[in-house]
Amino acid sequence: MSLGPCEIFEVGPRDGLQNEARDIPVAEKVALVDCLSRAGFSRIEVASFVSPKWVPQMAGSAQVLAGITRADGVRYAALTPNPRGFADAKAAGVDEVAVFASASEGFSKANVNASIAESLARFAPILEDARHIDLPVRGYVSCVVECPYDGTVKPAAVADVADKLFAMGCYEISLGDTIGAGTPDSIARMLLAVRDVVPVGRLAGHYHDTHGRALENIDTSLSLGLRVFDAAVGGLGGCPYAPGAAGNVATEAVARHLAALGYDTGLDLAVIDEAAAMAQAMRGESAHV
Ligand code: HMG
Ligand code: MG
Repeated sequence: MSLGPCEIFEVGPRDGLQNEARDIPVAEKVALVDCLSRAGFSRIEVASFVSPKWVPQMAGSAQVLAGITRADGVRYAALTPNPRGFADAKAAGVDEVAVFASASEGFSKANVNASIAESLARFAPILEDARHIDLPVRGYVSCVVECPYDGTVKPAAVADVADKLFAMGCYEISLGDTIGAGTPDSIARMLLAVRDVVPVGRLAGHYHDTHGRALENIDTSLSLGLRVFDAAVGGLGGCPYAPGAAGNVATEAVARHLAALGYDTGLDLAVIDEAAAMAQAMRGESAHV
């Protein structure tokens, strides 16, 4: 019996690759995205218009967007930390962008060199501009359970940032367990607080799998009403500013898990396995997470 639709938002070409030490050629990234475009995703995060001094791996983002073959029905997304990144993303022809904030001050400072309030103020003109041109903006909240700098993060702090991003106009709020420290209990406490301020249908779970609990955390999230989960093919990933952060939960594992539970993801598992093998091969010898 089908339990209805459940979406995987593929973030491998961005979150999966951003922390890789090997300088991955644009052509390899394009090939990965083109493979993923055949798998049945509605949204793929392919790029990040951040400072190349901060994340060198994402420096070729405009070329990636120029090189891919766009599939009908797929929205190609990119991270934008500030108006400059937003302008570059628009020029590259993205279908949607994401702004990213943190629920903890320590990670906010380490990741975007700004306090939480300052980062939200930077996003305001992005959301304003995006509204005028009808470009969807997604909002991330990092460190929804634990911060590598500040320790345990209170659910109320997550709810506060999620609420603000949603009020600013983000169409969906993706909740990042950046260092994969969440457990079903802590994820449930966090989601119950966030659900009070943002409709559950506008929430996504973005779980890194550092301690192997991401699938359990997805189960908890499903039981609380979430139906969108971010994942990266091959389980690649990690954030350069989150020491200890391991990969995102692997798309191929989430897709099989959701199918076994009875959810319809609309994904072609054979194509996803092909993309996962490509992603793993792109890691090279020098990966450091
Ligand atoms: P800053 O150093 O405070 O600001 O960085 P700045 O304005 O002084 O800029 C520094 C340099 O970068 C300057 O160059 C700028 O021109 C340039 P210089 O004058 O020194 O030659 N610059 C840019 N270049 C290209 N594109 C831009 C851009 N902006 C400035 N958009 C800044 C502030 C926000 C730029 C920086 O901190 C940054 O880029 N941070 C991004 C960090 C990042 O990408 N982290 C990973 C993504 S978040 C994540 O992975 C978590 C997530 O997956 C969810 C989860 O798991 O929790 C989403
Ligand atoms: Mg992440």
